[in-house]
Amino acid sequence: MFNKRVKIKHLLESVETGNEVTVMGWVRTFRNNQFIALNDGSTNNNLQVVAELGLLDETTIKRITTGSSLKITGKVVPSLGKGQTIEVKASSIEVLGDSDADKYPLQPKKHSLEFLREIAHLRFRTNTFGSVFRIRHSLAFAVHKFFNDKGFVYLHTPIITSSDAEGAGEMFRVTTLPLGNPPTTEDGSIDFKEDFFGKSTNLTVSGQLEGELGAMAFSEIYTFGPTFRAENSNTTRHLAEFWMIEPEMAFCDIEDNMNLAEEFMKYLIQYAIENNREDVEFLNSRLAEEEKQKPQNERSEFGLIEKLEFVLNNNFERITYTQAIDILLESPAYKKKKFKYDVKWGIDLQSEHERYLVEKHFKKPVIVTGYPKEIKAFYMRQNEDGKTVAAMDILAPGIGEIVGGSQREERLEKLEERMREMQIPIEEMSWYLDTRRFGTVPHAGFGLGFERLVQFVTGMTNIRDVIAFARTPKNCEF
Ligand code: 4AD
Ligand code: MG
Repeated sequence: MFNKRVKIKHLLESVETGNEVTVMGWVRTFRNNQFIALNDGSTNNNLQVVAELGLLDETTIKRITTGSSLKITGKVVPSLGKGQTIEVKASSIEVLGDSDADKYPLQPKKHSLEFLREIAHLRFRTNTFGSVFRIRHSLAFAVHKFFNDKGFVYLHTPIITSSDAEGAGEMFRVTTLPLGNPPTTEDGSIDFKEDFFGKSTNLTVSGQLEGELGAMAFSEIYTFGPTFRAENSNTTRHLAEFWMIEPEMAFCDIEDNMNLAEEFMKYLIQYAIENNREDVEFLNSRLAEEEKQKPQNERSEFGLIEKLEFVLNNNFERITYTQAIDILLESPAYKKKKFKYDVKWGIDLQSEHERYLVEKHFKKPVIVTGYPKEIKAFYMRQNEDGKTVAAMDILAPGIGEIVGGSQREERLEKLEERMREMQIPIEEMSWYLDTRRFGTVPHAGFGLGFERLVQFVTGMTNIRDVIAFARTPKNCEF
């Protein structure tokens, strides 16, 4: 019975009139006891439904409130109202679910993003979040299309793991041991042999190491899954649970890696512009409105669509870490002591430094290569200078780091040497080192933070607004 329904998006796109159709959705507004704006989530554009006087009895009219759900059958007719070419003249209206107008939190007015975050279970029903999540869906689909078209194998790497891929140590433990009195060994430490997996385990911070194993057989793989970091960073760019895309390519060096990352980002942006035009345009206007509220000197030079098109039509800037440091040292910001963190060769670039390079100096995405080995992971390929590694980070305007990647150290001895220096247990990582023992090849890969990409494409400034239910320090609602 429900499958005869037409989606509002399709109905509005067709110009045909005269047909009888059934539509279902939620009421956005109801005016003059006659005009219903109905939305089913397929588009931000509501379908205007006209209930002619006399069609509905008093009780039904009272039940048609903002947020209630309806099943409507009627004829598609040309619309006299402005803003739409067609509307539906209802012959029957059935209330599927009531919505108490006094209690329904979403009123037909502008709500703040902060308020909507508190009612994240309902915010999908707003125009802003409708657009954001349809775009997020499209981008996810485009990720698979991009790699599938190139012959990459989609590898599902594990969520629960006993390794710490990044060596960062900021992991969520997975355990079934009793919190109060866990079993202990003779020296008093927790006995993980008694734990579910017989060893200490955690949620994955990255699928890369397992991805490398796949690349050493399929040549090219990618992962796309949730990753977890227990970093206590309460910022607009960090989540404790985020989605990451990690391609890994055999027979590939840092140059190829950068080229692929740039092509990939442009492909995704292009895909959203082409396939989600309406939603991108909606967010473009939304952002323009927001900008108007800001003082003149804080407004951004570009609108959302302008920014996206600029990125598509220009090469990403490519510089070395050493050049980046020199630019920062020469900058007026540094000379006027505007940076909070000091600048000198060897530092981990802070977000203020990244933003300076991208937003002030180059005004476009920048790929930085050749970072000092001390601030990067053990698996990155060591450069001839003995000081730097073949790492590459892509920095994007308004976002900062959006991609992190590297060419991997394929030389067994060099890799073991670095692991010893960084006190990474070589024995436990024997499975990883096997790829270097048996037919090792030059290879490279990167990780793209999916939410940061969605932020970039939608112009949403807070990462909590581009994931359905954000997990951040002290917050795990829904
Ligand atoms: O730079 P990261 O830590 O790199 C890795 O995990 C590598 N194993 C990737 C690889 O080479 N296969 O993380 C990659 C990207 C970052 O550039 C950022 O976009 C995103 O993941 N990211 C986060 N996004 C949201 N919240 C967080 N807490 C994030 N941490 C990293
Ligand atoms: Mg990184």
